[in-house]
Amino acid sequence: MAMLIKIIKFYGRFTLSFTAIGFFFRSLLWPRFSPDFRGQIWLVTGASGGLGKAIVAQAAAAGATVLAVARSSAKLDALVKAYGAGVAPMTADLSLQRDTQRLVEDIVRSGRKIDVLVNNVGSLLNDFSLTSEGRETSFATNILNHFLLTERLIESSVLKNDSVVINMSSGGMYNAPLMIAKMNVTDPKRYAGVFAYAVHKRGQAELTKYWSATYGPRGMKFYVMHPGWADTEGVERSLPRFHKVLNLILRDGRQGTETAIWLAATRPDREPGGFWFDRKIRPSHVYPATMVSKDTPAGLADYLRGELGKLT
Ligand SMILES: NC(=O)c1ccc[n+]([C@@H]2O[C@H](COP(=O)([O-])OP(=O)(O)OC[C@H]3O[C@@H](n4cnc5c(N)ncnc54)[C@H](OP(=O)(O)O)[C@@H]3O)[C@@H](O)[C@H]2O)c1
Repeated sequence: MAMLIKIIKFYGRFTLSFTAIGFFFRSLLWPRFSPDFRGQIWLVTGASGGLGKAIVAQAAAAGATVLAVARSSAKLDALVKAYGAGVAPMTADLSLQRDTQRLVEDIVRSGRKIDVLVNNVGSLLNDFSLTSEGRETSFATNILNHFLLTERLIESSVLKNDSVVINMSSGGMYNAPLMIAKMNVTDPKRYAGVFAYAVHKRGQAELTKYWSATYGPRGMKFYVMHPGWADTEGVERSLPRFHKVLNLILRDGRQGTETAIWLAATRPDREPGGFWFDRKIRPSHVYPATMVSKDTPAGLADYLRGELGKLT
């Protein structure tokens, strides 16, 4: 009963705001802007579908060269066909540390320097699975390899000192505190997909604070945002009932990613590590219980570094 009340309260609170309805009314008040990304190189993960694809489309239309990363080369080829030669496909499975390392090596070898990194890839997996490297798949995809990719690109000076990093989190993070011990649940009996996703998404927000504090002084800007609720294959696959009930009012990809494009174009200085949604910093917590944690952003970074160190 308590769970049912929590769910009703959650949807009561967020349905108007997170769907296309909230986007429509908020956007009436926004000043128009025309992004100009000519001369910039973007790296977008999870680029061949859903929100990643919408980001690629908008960045390429505004003149950026976009390195688009996903697993399926067929889907990436379709992306190039749709958005032109400014899109450079790069295949990698970002649930795998070795593939992520190989991706970084390929980028370093290419000599390209990156202006905007969008850590977009992520999934909510209802069914437990382990990667071939022995990690719970959503942990590896949603946060561990974001950390690896970002840190290696910084270490190798591929991310420019005036670059922007945008981490695509989720309102789902409202359901978990920072909990390092629950990041990589490798026992199927203890795995719960929705909660694991919330823990990873909270982790992305906390990592953004760590990166802002550590690399911000160099001039890099780190943002974490959520897209609201958008109609994507990922949502349809992971939350079929939610999708069935709400699909008529879900955001489209452009609406879900408008804030990412706006952040990259305007680079606001407000509250480093703040949680952005629809061009504004929103509360990072809506439940008092998630504010309590013995873990810290720097502790999370240490943990992820240690986890990566296990595989040589
Ligand atoms: N849609 C929403 O309402 C919503 C709400 C809150 C947060 N988000 C967040 O927004 C991000 C994008 O969500 P989405 O709904 O657009 O997802 P999606 O529809 O599932 O699209 C995922 C994209 O990522 C790629 N991908 C998946 N696994 C990959 C892997 N292991 N390595 C490389 N690429 C991979 C997929 O292409 P391939 O299959 O070809 O690899 C596809 O291009 C996620 O981080 C999600 O948590 C979305």
